[in-house]
Amino acid sequence: MSNRTFTMIKPDAVENGHIGGILDKICAAGFRIVAMKQTKLSAEKAGEFYAVHKERPFYGELVEFMSSGHIVAAILEKSNAVEDFRKLIGATNPAQAEEGTIRKIYAESIGRNAVHGSDSDENAEIEGNFFFSGLEKF
Ligand code: TYD
Repeated sequence: MSNRTFTMIKPDAVENGHIGGILDKICAAGFRIVAMKQTKLSAEKAGEFYAVHKERPFYGELVEFMSSGHIVAAILEKSNAVEDFRKLIGATNPAQAEEGTIRKIYAESIGRNAVHGSDSDENAEIEGNFFFSGLEKF
């Protein structure tokens, strides 16, 4: 079990002014921000990040959405980080997310769902490395 996970605040939440509210919930839940940056993904980079979904029907829309505006990428640290962060963000579809979760509060829909959270330790490592160099991950 690793103690790090990776997150993105997605374009919908950035556009809607929710960066502060989301970071507040993340910090209140006991996560330390190891590294963080605001950036914008090209369609090519968004496609690469979500390559695992490329055969899924929603892939085109997902890539278009994720490259439509600024995102905030961050590596987070806490014991049991991956699992605890998935609990904090809630179900993919905000209609099914539990009360108090970030997606319940901030997501607009299953596609525009405010935040990303890695689904395994292995993916957390890969995704963190997608955005941050070794020098940025202390
Ligand atoms: P997925 O990895 O299944 O969900 P999660 O982000 O909770 O790990 O899907 C990746 C993203 O793809 C998801 O956050 C939003 C988008 N998506 C859709 O737009 N439609 C869908 O039906 C699904 C399952 C996902």
